[in-house]
Amino acid sequence: MHNTEQPAPWTSSWRGDKATVYADLADALDGLLAGEPDRVANAANAAAAIYHAVGSLNWAGFYFLHNGQLVLGPFQGRPACVRIPLGKGVCGTAAAQRRSVLVPDVNAFPGHIACDGASRSELVVPLLVGDDLLGVLDLDSPLPARFDAADQAGCEMLAKVLARHLA
Ligand code: SME
Repeated sequence: MHNTEQPAPWTSSWRGDKATVYADLADALDGLLAGEPDRVANAANAAAAIYHAVGSLNWAGFYFLHNGQLVLGPFQGRPACVRIPLGKGVCGTAAAQRRSVLVPDVNAFPGHIACDGASRSELVVPLLVGDDLLGVLDLDSPLPARFDAADQAGCEMLAKVLARHLA
């Protein structure tokens, strides 16, 4: 359980090494979303929590699978492209291959879809319930190489918690 004597992970006073940051955030998200069945409400709160907790992001949010396409869900950041076909861009690649995709330099990723010109690096993690793909969690940063293996492992842990609350 998230330690209620500590500030919530999405407050500015929250700091730690990446493994601790993501473990605490996963616990806090589990608590924040518990008991609420509405996907939009939970995705909106999760996007806000992640945006403020992870740091150095210009976009954090969701695309959900609808009729074979990814469709924009709740997010924090600038307005984004609404529909992404499977296999297209970083999001569509992660969705089609059902694996997380870490892009240190978006300009070096063939087919990257530029929603916010400020984005320099990106991490996309699929949301899976068993073999079913719900959608993806997408994080963008204005910093080159903002995300590393610890962020990827941490966001994969977040995705497991999120998939349970967004199914
Ligand atoms: N860059 C993504 C598109 C979504 S935005 O970053 C919010 C992609 O290439 O799939």
